[in-house]
Amino acid sequence: MSGGFDLAQTDRLLTTTRAVRKRLDLTRAVEPKVLLDCIQIASQAPSGSNAQRWRWIVVTDTEKKKTVADYYALSFKDYIAPKLDLIEPGDHASVRMTDSASYLAEHMAEVPVLVIPCVLDRPPEANAGEQSAGFWGGILPAVWSFQLALRSRGLGSAWTTLHLNYEKEVGDALGVPPTVTQAALLPVAYYTGTDFKAAPRRAAAELTYWDEWKATRSL
Ligand SMILES: Cc1cc2nc3c(=O)[nH]c(=O)nc-3n(C[C@H](O)[C@H](O)[C@H](O)COP(=O)(O)O)c2cc1C
Repeated sequence: MSGGFDLAQTDRLLTTTRAVRKRLDLTRAVEPKVLLDCIQIASQAPSGSNAQRWRWIVVTDTEKKKTVADYYALSFKDYIAPKLDLIEPGDHASVRMTDSASYLAEHMAEVPVLVIPCVLDRPPEANAGEQSAGFWGGILPAVWSFQLALRSRGLGSAWTTLHLNYEKEVGDALGVPPTVTQAALLPVAYYTGTDFKAAPRRAAAELTYWDEWKATRSL
């Protein structure tokens, strides 16, 4: 225990919340209540000026999920084709990732719930000063909190953005006003199996500069 938290549990949640695609249980229903609980937790996330300019669209209707999934698949097809050509023989990690992403694109409509977090504004035209950072930073912490809250309740999700190439079409299908921005599309389901592993990542000491650019320290 540290600071009142069980560190082992907290660190396990933070290090093993993965992009879940193949292990989404397509056969098990997700209760609306658990989604609202997780959105309530996510609403504790920080936002600029504490504005909380977010809304969450939970898509459960079969026809509407299919519309969203079809646009996702269309976008995915264009995204993945050049990627597949570039994978070097023996690059197992990239093969696994593209295989998993392809699976999701094929099965998106069957996922019990598709969640689209939205911002109640349009993004700034140019990346001027803090505007873009403020805009996207106003929603992204909440989305990740939502994913962590799901994971701790046995539900998996994956951050996806490819449907945004068809943001208008998806927005029209869901009645989203043109003044609103969709930030992501999260397939959500209970996950199969019991546990996830931490992924290989570069050492923090290599990525952390102290007082000056490139000034690393090994402690
Ligand atoms: C901004 C962003 C956009 C992403 N877009 C997609 C996407 O469109 N489709 C997809 O399958 N995964 C998408 N991902 C998931 C990443 O592929 C995944 O987080 C990454 O491969 C690391 O996997 P891990 O979280 O399991 O370690 C996205 C993640 C982020 C943060």
